Amino acid sequence: MKKLYAVIGNPIGHSMSPIMHNDLFSFYQIDASYLPFQIKSENLKDAVNGFKAIGIGGFNVTVPHKTDIIPLLDEVDEFAACIGAVNTVVNENGRLKGYNTDGPGFLKGLQVYMPSTAGKKILIVGAGGAARAIYFTLAKEKPAAVDIANRTVEKAESLIAECPYSVTSSAWTLAEAEGNLAVYDLIVQTTLIGMAPKMAEQPIDLTNVRKQALVCDIIYNPLQTKFLQDASDRGANIQNGIEMFVYQGALAFEKWTGIFPDVERMRENVLNQLG
Ligand code: ATR
Repeated sequence: MKKLYAVIGNPIGHSMSPIMHNDLFSFYQIDASYLPFQIKSENLKDAVNGFKAIGIGGFNVTVPHKTDIIPLLDEVDEFAACIGAVNTVVNENGRLKGYNTDGPGFLKGLQVYMPSTAGKKILIVGAGGAARAIYFTLAKEKPAAVDIANRTVEKAESLIAECPYSVTSSAWTLAEAEGNLAVYDLIVQTTLIGMAPKMAEQPIDLTNVRKQALVCDIIYNPLQTKFLQDASDRGANIQNGIEMFVYQGALAFEKWTGIFPDVERMRENVLNQLG
């Protein structure tokens, strides 16, 4: 019988996950469909119970449900629990188990450009949910330091205080980080500043970025944010948010099917959709 997979969020209309996963199901000849469902917060519990009742194979979870879904699941993987956010749910013999593939997806995508982050000095810009998943993931990779710069510096401080992994970290204001940029091998932009339609904005100025540093933005619409353009103009290497998006999806697909999919194919598919 055909299996159902899904993504839930609100809004959900622009998600590229259905196109990406449906293509993979057909490519690997798996009899399954992946559908988007717009679920309001007040209906989240009913949606999860409904998915369980129909024997869903699994589903992705996006904004605003990544944290609120946790108490509604039968089990949550240790790393996802520690981040406090689930983006992938797997139906394991009738029990719904939550995972987080956002942080690990970022890391796998990063490794295409920077094979190891051990010994590297890293700056994360932003201290929201995406920053948290990326920070906890990078903290495990034995970097020399992972610092966090945020408009509200107290949020960066809280994130550092809550990290369960042993890592050297400082919290900076955005202005402090701008002055100190030259020390970083890797800079990761995790806010939504610069995303379409507000493409003229960028969270920090990159005047002091080191040439040959790698500068990543988790945004993929536009493919090149003003932040990445600025980094590139100053001689840094750049990576957009496509890699993280594709690899979080690849890791979810692997959890559902046991197959680690063809990432080139996924990337091409997503780039085609973005035009
Ligand atoms: P997400 O879960 O997508 O990471 P979030 O939790 O709302 O989103 O976090 C948004 C991030 O963008 C935060 O780091 C936020 O800074 P504050 O903690 O100071 O709010 C940052 N951010 C949003 N708008 C900003 C702006 N105009 N200037 C600077 N930082 C901004």
